[in-house]
Amino acid sequence: MKRVVITDHPLIQHKLTLMRKTSTGSKDFRELLTEITMLMGYEVTKDLPLRDVEIETPIQKTMAKELDGKKLAIVPILRAGIGMVDGFISLIPAAKVGHIGLYRDPETCEPVEYYCKMPQDIGEREVFLVDPMLATGGSATAAIELLRARGAKNIRMINLVAAPEGIEVVHSKYPEVDIYVASVDEKLNDHKYIVPGLGDAGDRLFGTK
Ligand code: PRP
Ligand code: URA
Repeated sequence: MKRVVITDHPLIQHKLTLMRKTSTGSKDFRELLTEITMLMGYEVTKDLPLRDVEIETPIQKTMAKELDGKKLAIVPILRAGIGMVDGFISLIPAAKVGHIGLYRDPETCEPVEYYCKMPQDIGEREVFLVDPMLATGGSATAAIELLRARGAKNIRMINLVAAPEGIEVVHSKYPEVDIYVASVDEKLNDHKYIVPGLGDAGDRLFGTK
């Protein structure tokens, strides 16, 4: 309950520092996000169940381990979450991908829904909800609500940078959702941006603005 896992591996922290720098352009920002996602994926998938199988190596038959066929879904919150899909898919090629379109209203900072498409059997899948930024927690809680309404039971959330306020908001409503994050930053500023953060993740990923 109310589990926050900070993935503080030195490679993740180094790459995150590069992403934070204003001087890092979209190409490098995208590549770094994919690399960090893969490194975080190691931690996020640590508890996936295994089963024993008999295989034949060039030397002899032996018992070995394979993933126990758990069904997974990767669900990015558009737009910025898209930047975390490739990293996960390359680790778990059999996972299905759902999409949730949400943007923060520039005035109110409240999430506005514009798209939702899930795999039909989302209720049977372990969901990895991905978004680089967890700021007020409005988008994350709206996304979890949409997933729950479609039957998703087991959801874990993976963010790059979170504000303490956002973690609190998600966990006050959904204490059972584990949050994996590379950094819990200091706070939100008056515009509800994460401080020090890395700016607007969607704009930096896609070169908009
Ligand atoms: C960003 C980010 C999160 C959200 C976090 O998306 O990718 O989805 O803000 O803020 P919150 O915790 O206060 O809801 P944004 O709304 O900027 O949309 P974009 O990804 O399309 O740029
Ligand atoms: N969305 C972002 O992309 N960055 C923030 O700091 C807050 C919300």
